[in-house]
Amino acid sequence: MSSEVLPADPAAPELERIARAAAFLRAGRLVAFPTETVYGLGADALNPAAVSRIFVAKGRPPNNPLIVHVPETAAASAVAAAWPDSAARLAAKFWPGPLTLVLLKREIVPDVVTAGGPTVGVRVPAHPVAQALLREAGIPIAAPSANRSNQLSPTRAEHVLKGLSGRIDLVLDGGPTLGGLESTVLDLTSTPPRLLRPGLVSPGEIEAVIGPIARAAPTVAGPLRSPGMLPRHYAPRTPLECAGDDAAERVHTLCAAGLRVGWLTFTEAAETAPAGLAILVMPRNPAAYAAELYAALHVLDDAGLDRIVVTLPPDREEWLPIHDRLRRAAAPPA
Ligand code: TXA
Ligand code: MG
Repeated sequence: MSSEVLPADPAAPELERIARAAAFLRAGRLVAFPTETVYGLGADALNPAAVSRIFVAKGRPPNNPLIVHVPETAAASAVAAAWPDSAARLAAKFWPGPLTLVLLKREIVPDVVTAGGPTVGVRVPAHPVAQALLREAGIPIAAPSANRSNQLSPTRAEHVLKGLSGRIDLVLDGGPTLGGLESTVLDLTSTPPRLLRPGLVSPGEIEAVIGPIARAAPTVAGPLRSPGMLPRHYAPRTPLECAGDDAAERVHTLCAAGLRVGWLTFTEAAETAPAGLAILVMPRNPAAYAAELYAALHVLDDAGLDRIVVTLPPDREEWLPIHDRLRRAAAPPA
């Protein structure tokens, strides 16, 4: 099977192409599509055979539940059995957008979506292509990030094809995604609500709407609150390490030892870099950094290097999801 690629205008998607992709989804096939965070790999969320194909294509462990995407807040009730006041307030503020709410599931949601659990993650994506596809398909769409399990998330159609070409039916190519990091995942079935994955909606923004939440997102050392919160995740194949002020020194040492090194850093540090090393200079603004992070890691991962060194950004809340992804990328394989 080869994967069909259909370009889609990210601002005003062509109806004919969206209709073709929607027909694929209704027929139980797999379609990758852009969201405002990363590309998702979609299947009809209420069709267990279709959803199973996602797990096969990605090589995803069956104990890791999927996020269900719906076109608008009102449609969340198709899959969520309870709709607490906190959900209503968060949806009013952040949907459509990069926030996933974990809620009690309806009977109709198959076990393969929720990893057999009683809850379902729900999100209303903002990207015009995702919106058009959901409305045209008329079904809730289960969609993890469109990458092989545990590898880098895709922010461009070519990233999707790198991992999944021939394993999925169709890719809607809407160009680079603007957000660049996966959605914030918030569990509303625990008291207080618990942050399961930091993302572009920050804990502070959530607390401004519903009050205090448990912010202790699972750390590399801590207990796993969700099967998806594996210590190693979002990782390039090339071994990656994070560094602080000592990054330049570390890079010099590795180069001196004869290793081919890629360095993800900021301007000032790059000026003191040894020659012959692959350097990518990242923005100092967190949103711009997030938008570029996975594309930069894809570039370094494809460069045939022995090591990737990442200069960590400042330790401030606005960088939280970026720190989270970098730490997971650096965690040793299980
Ligand atoms: O931005 C995103 O969220 C993207 C786009 C495509 O929407 N999707 C995405 O999906 O990142 P995925 O499967 O790569 O990550 C979903 C995360 C996983 O860590 C999973 O464990 C968690 O959400 N999750 C999903 N349903 C859950 C549930 N019922 N309870 C706890 N965690 C859940
Ligand atoms: Mg993922």
